[in-house]
Amino acid sequence: MTTQPAVARAAIILAAGRGERMKSPRPKVLHPIAGRAMVDLAIDAALALGCARIIVVVGDHSPSVRAHVVKRLGEAAIAVQDPPLGTGHAVLAARSALAGFEGDVVVTYADTPLLTASVIEPLFALRADGADLAVLGFEAVDPGAYGRLILEDADTLAAIVEAKDATPAQRAIALCNSGVLAADVAVLFGLLDRVTNQNAKGEYYLTDVVGLANADGKAVRVTFAPEDRVAGVNSQAELAAVEAAFQKRRRAELMAGGVTMTAPDTVCLAWDTQIAGGAVIEPNVVFAPGVTVESEAVIRAFSHLEGAVVRTGALVGPYARLRPGADIGAGAHIGNFVEVKKVTVGPGAKANHLAYLGDGAVGAGANIGAGTIFCNYDGFDKFDTHVGEGAFIGSNSALVAPVTIGAGAYIGSGSVITKAVSENALALGRGQQVEKPGWAAAFRARKRREKASK
Ligand code: UD1
Ligand code: MG
Repeated sequence: MTTQPAVARAAIILAAGRGERMKSPRPKVLHPIAGRAMVDLAIDAALALGCARIIVVVGDHSPSVRAHVVKRLGEAAIAVQDPPLGTGHAVLAARSALAGFEGDVVVTYADTPLLTASVIEPLFALRADGADLAVLGFEAVDPGAYGRLILEDADTLAAIVEAKDATPAQRAIALCNSGVLAADVAVLFGLLDRVTNQNAKGEYYLTDVVGLANADGKAVRVTFAPEDRVAGVNSQAELAAVEAAFQKRRRAELMAGGVTMTAPDTVCLAWDTQIAGGAVIEPNVVFAPGVTVESEAVIRAFSHLEGAVVRTGALVGPYARLRPGADIGAGAHIGNFVEVKKVTVGPGAKANHLAYLGDGAVGAGANIGAGTIFCNYDGFDKFDTHVGEGAFIGSNSALVAPVTIGAGAYIGSGSVITKAVSENALALGRGQQVEKPGWAAAFRARKRREKASK
């Protein structure tokens, strides 16, 4: 739902910090929340705000962050801050990338993944209402190291004081700076030009623009967000806490939309999981990105789904695995220990136990027996298997792709099928059964005799 703002908007996303407290070789902002890299969630929010230009400020130390952003937004979206000398310095690093842009700019952080467009939008409302500078604040349960908001009145901000520079009385303030602010681009850069590093950390603080704007007689206004939406990630524990907060909120939204979850705390959702009202999700189901579940479908316990569609009334699991490209038709059944990848399963078709369906299609009403394997890979390429409508694949069959089973055909159990099977035919591809009458009794008698004579 991209808005069409009256005043052009740009976003500067700060991502140049080292993220050392993550203690991980992976850059902090590439760690995922709900299956999506934090920097992408920040970009999503900027896009949803209708930002015409998005600049991500990266450090020289993390080429993978740069490559990740370039892949999505192109080189024009990159500004490099080297070395990192503070948040104000980081915003200034985006100046040349924004050359020629006129309008409002919003500054956000790439490590604040729950900050969605709807949380930021009120800043633009303040701007439209005459604020020169609009700041997003929150009330912190534990204000700790956050910058403190020094208010003039309920929504007018006099200054932001960083915790390290604050007096004990200022440190007692619970209203804190989220780090997000919006202003006219020329006004913001003009103020930043005057910011110095004469402070406890020896950094160029973005937050100093508030005091400078006030000194110029500009209007600085503040609006507040819930604390759980502005939580930043600095450590693995905070990553987990933010993940938990996302999961809790998204589960609640889905249940409010009519989804039944018998044990919601055990269900893991992805950032883009779509589940329609009337669907049932049993305990311990994991949704990786790209899943849509339609109404009245049931996802039974311990299933893992990624990049899959489960259509109306289908039954998946328990212990099923749907991989990208699995499209489970209306009323179809995918049972325990069945893996489906890049296969369209027609309405009412069933694969109830222990099977691998990879690449191809299964027609409506077909029955795939236990132990069926679509042999789709020769070590180099992948090939498709097509099972026609109403076909019956006997248990433990290997369908060696590329291969087509005609509609209504039967495949005898234990077959290895390498050639096309015609409609309504019976195909058998297995050794013939041989029977030797009385052989077992004779064998046992001989063995007993041999043992007795030893
Ligand atoms: C900042 C704010 C503080 C606020 C808090 C909210 C300042 C001076 N302080 O403090 O008021 O309460 O965020 O979380 O702005 N970054 C760069 N380059 C730099 C420094 C930082 O890109 O030189 C990026 C980081 O990657 C991060 C963001 O800016 O995404 C915030 O930096 P951080 O060092 O975490 O700021 P805080 O000290 O938490
Ligand atoms: Mg921080």
